Amino acid sequence: MLLVKTYSRQRAESERYADQNLNQIELQVRQAMSGQLFFGVVQVFMSAVPAIIYLVSGWLIASAQGQGFDPGITAGTIVAFTTVQARLLFPMMALMRVTLDLQTSRALFSRIFEYIDLEPEIVDAPDAKEPSSDPAVAGRIEFDRVRFRYPDVPDDTRPTIDDVSFTVEPGEFIAFVGASGSGKTTIGMLLPRLYEVSSGAVRYGGDDVRDLKHESLMERIGVVTQEPYLFHATIAENLRYAKPDASDEELEQAARLANIHDTIATFEHGYDTVVGERGYRLSGGEKQRIAIARVLLKNPRVLVLDEATSALDTLNERVVQRALDDARSGRTTVAIAHRLSTIVDADRIYVLDAGRIIEQGTHDALLELEGAYAALYSQQHS
Ligand SMILES: Nc1ncnc2c1ncn2[C@@H]1O[C@H](COP(=O)(O)OP(=O)(O)OP(=O)(O)O)[C@@H](O)[C@H]1O
Ligand SMILES: [Mg+2]
Repeated sequence: MLLVKTYSRQRAESERYADQNLNQIELQVRQAMSGQLFFGVVQVFMSAVPAIIYLVSGWLIASAQGQGFDPGITAGTIVAFTTVQARLLFPMMALMRVTLDLQTSRALFSRIFEYIDLEPEIVDAPDAKEPSSDPAVAGRIEFDRVRFRYPDVPDDTRPTIDDVSFTVEPGEFIAFVGASGSGKTTIGMLLPRLYEVSSGAVRYGGDDVRDLKHESLMERIGVVTQEPYLFHATIAENLRYAKPDASDEELEQAARLANIHDTIATFEHGYDTVVGERGYRLSGGEKQRIAIARVLLKNPRVLVLDEATSALDTLNERVVQRALDDARSGRTTVAIAHRLSTIVDADRIYVLDAGRIIEQGTHDALLELEGAYAALYSQQHS
């Protein structure tokens, strides 16, 4: 609606709607009419049959009697025959209609089956196992010469992720920075195996993610996506999506950590406020903090934060950042950030450029290097 209004497209959209409606009318009429011509002909024929029989037999009987011999059949028999015949034909018509209905429904079925028959691209291996819960390796992440190209991208182009290798030990905090489109979000998606790598391997806790039960892997990885997604439901329901049996106290605790509880408390319906389609009734920063509260409630072993605080003002960002600092303890954290101030504490920072890691090190080491990172940093702080 906002887009329609700000681009003053009301008239064009109304026309488009009217066009679609006309199209719809035409289709519905066509659907209602399909097969009806055949039935019309059959029905006319069936109604006409008794009349024709009466006419022909009447004429035969009359002319036989006129010539003075017995026609061998009486008018009464003819009437009885046509009555019984009509009774037989109507149920047959009804059966034919069922056939017609089945025919038209088949078109719908085939479209539904198209989805039911889809083979999921990512399935568990037959001997898939649980990720290791050994604290020494649980939460360790390893990218080993990973190459990746999105499925619909032609093979002769450069891979989106090109020969990326790195290791994160359990509990470490690493960060990815780089230009827009350099592949940061993509790395965040490969980790929970939302896509399959083209070559190389992604490992979790020492095991290739392709050897692990996908559901169990997902349970251990929490992702705050770049565009937080909220359902058209209440705030409490959105939070409980991460943990259906969470108590009210747990919800509040997570919300407090994400610095959103006080804001929710000012809403008339509090946690029962319905957020609207995709959360349009909340500000960008509020949505982001609810998404953070949701992931804290999930309490995953690995936290992937894709620009998780980008929509917050400096003050809020600092508070949420502190909450995330607390949340980071005992977890592996992969942060993706444009604002470098949020990742200066990272154990390692990787600079991505067109799918390749071009620099890596701590904040201080990278500044000393005076390369891409140092340039980025001085841009933001000049
Ligand atoms: N589903 C997709 N199918 C095909 N190409 C994609 C898809 N998603 C992203 N890409 C492409 O992959 C490249 C990397 O995208 P990615 O989202 O990882 O960038 P990013 O580093 O997160 O950028 P930003 O900082 O803007 O969020 C881009 O060139 C993008 O156009
Ligand atoms: Mg991104």
